[in-house]
Amino acid sequence: MKKLAYYIETYGCQMNEHDSEKIAGMLHSIGYNETNDKTKADLILFNTCLIRENAELKVYGKLGEIKKLKSTNKNLLVAVCGCMMQIKNNRDKITSKFPFVDIIFGTNNIHELPQLIEDAYTNHKRNISIIEDTQYIKEDMPKTRKYKHKALVNITYGCNNFCSYCVVPYTRGREKSRDPKDIINEIKLLSKQNCKEITLLGQNVNSYGKTFNNKYDFPSLLYDLDKIDGIERIRFMTSHPKDLSIRLIEAMRDCNKVCEHIHLPIQSGSNKVLKNMNRKYTKEQYLELIYAIKKEIPGIAITTDIIVGFPGETEEDFLETIDVVKKVEYDSAFTFLYSIRQGTPAAKMQNQIDDNIKHKRFNYLLEELYPIIYKKNQEYINREFNVLVDTVSKNNKDYLTGRTRTNKLVHFKGNKNLIGEIVRIKILDAKTWFLEGILV
Ligand code: SAH
Ligand code: SF4
Ligand code: F3S
Repeated sequence: MKKLAYYIETYGCQMNEHDSEKIAGMLHSIGYNETNDKTKADLILFNTCLIRENAELKVYGKLGEIKKLKSTNKNLLVAVCGCMMQIKNNRDKITSKFPFVDIIFGTNNIHELPQLIEDAYTNHKRNISIIEDTQYIKEDMPKTRKYKHKALVNITYGCNNFCSYCVVPYTRGREKSRDPKDIINEIKLLSKQNCKEITLLGQNVNSYGKTFNNKYDFPSLLYDLDKIDGIERIRFMTSHPKDLSIRLIEAMRDCNKVCEHIHLPIQSGSNKVLKNMNRKYTKEQYLELIYAIKKEIPGIAITTDIIVGFPGETEEDFLETIDVVKKVEYDSAFTFLYSIRQGTPAAKMQNQIDDNIKHKRFNYLLEELYPIIYKKNQEYINREFNVLVDTVSKNNKDYLTGRTRTNKLVHFKGNKNLIGEIVRIKILDAKTWFLEGILV
C-alpha cells in the first residue's frame, strides 16, 4: 500500500523547529512519510509563530494558497498548530477565514496528533485540541530529527518573564523545567546514535531548575552534561541577562564541551526602555556581564537580539542601544522592528513610534552593526578552527558548510562524506555573513 505523505512548514524559533521534529516523529510512527511537494501531500501542517505581525501574516497568506489544493484533493487534511493556535482570537480567525482547516492543535498537544487525524477522517468535522498548561507536556514522544550529528533538546518549557512586548508567556504558558534525569538520558541516547552537538532549548535557560525543590540549576546541568562521552559540543539558548550568574560563566569556562558562544539579548540600551520592557536589568549590569564573560572566556562570540522602536523610545534612547553595540562588538545580531502584539502590556502604551522613524533607526543600527560583524570575522583569517560539518553548500555542490565552536558559518571545499564530522579548517577569507577556508 502507498504510504501517506505529509508536508510541514515551520515558522518561528528553534522551540518550534524542535516541536516539528516531534510532529514528524509522531507521523512516522503511524506510517506517514515526509514530502517536499505540497501537491503530493495527504496532510499539510503549518507550525505557526506569533512573535511579530509578519510571522502571523505569512501563515494567513500560505493558508490562502492551500484552499485550491483542498478543492482538487478531497482526501487532503490541513492542520494548523504552534504558538498562534494557543490564543483563542487567532484560532477564531483561522476557523472563520479558513473553514477548510481540519485540525487545530496546540504546542502541548503534539502527542494527540494521531487521534486527531483519525477523528478528522471519520467525523469530517473540524477537530480542535488545545492544552494551555505546560504541566501536561509528554516526555516520551518519538522524534524525527533534521540532523543526526546535532540535536535540539528542551530543558525548559514556557516563560514567566512577561517582557512587556512579548507574546510567548501567553502562547507557551508557565515556565517548567524538565527533570535532569530525562535530559541526561535523552542526550546519552543521542550520543549512542553518533550525535556530536546538542543545543539546550529554553526561553530563559538561566532560570532552569527554579521550580525544583533543590539547588540543582543550569550550571549543575552543564557540569553533568559535560561528562557524557561522545557529545563534543554543548550550546544553549536563550540566556536572559537578569538570571545570568557568575556560576554560569564559570561553568562555561570549566566545561570543555560548552562552546565559546553566548546569545545574550540586550533588546535596548536605554535604562528607561529596559524598565518599560520589564527586562529587569540595566545597561550597566548588562555590560558588566559582558566584560566578565569576555575575561573568563577569551575569544567567545557574543550575539544578541535588538528591538528598535519600542513605545516611547526617543532618539537618545536609541543612541544608548548604538552605544552598547559599539562597546560589546557583537559577532552577530538579530534586529527587529517593534511589532504590536495584542494582549501584551506594550500594545496598550500610548506613545507608539511612527513607522518611518522605526525604519530610519533600524537602518542606522544595521549601518553601525555590519562593519563590527565584518571586523570580528576578519580576526579569523589565517587561523585554524575545528568545524562541525553540517551540509553541502546550497550554491555550489563541491562546497560544504559547517560551524566553528563560536558558531561562525564556514564554507570550504570537501567531500560530502565529511558531513557530521569535526574537521580542521584554515580560514582564508571572511565576509560579513560567513568565513571561507580550506581543509588542513
Ligand atoms: N526568550 C528569548 C527570546 C524569544 S523571542 C529571550 O528572552 O531572549 C526572540 C526575540 O524576538 C526577542 O529576543 C525579541 O528581540 C524579539 N521580539 C519579541 N517580541 C517582539 C515584538 N513584539 N516586536 C519585535 N520583536 C520582538
Ligand atoms: Fe519573551 Fe521575555 Fe520570555 Fe523571552 S524572556 S520569551 S522575550 S517574555
Ligand atoms: Fe517561538 Fe514564535 Fe512561539 S518565536 S515560542 S514560535 S511565538
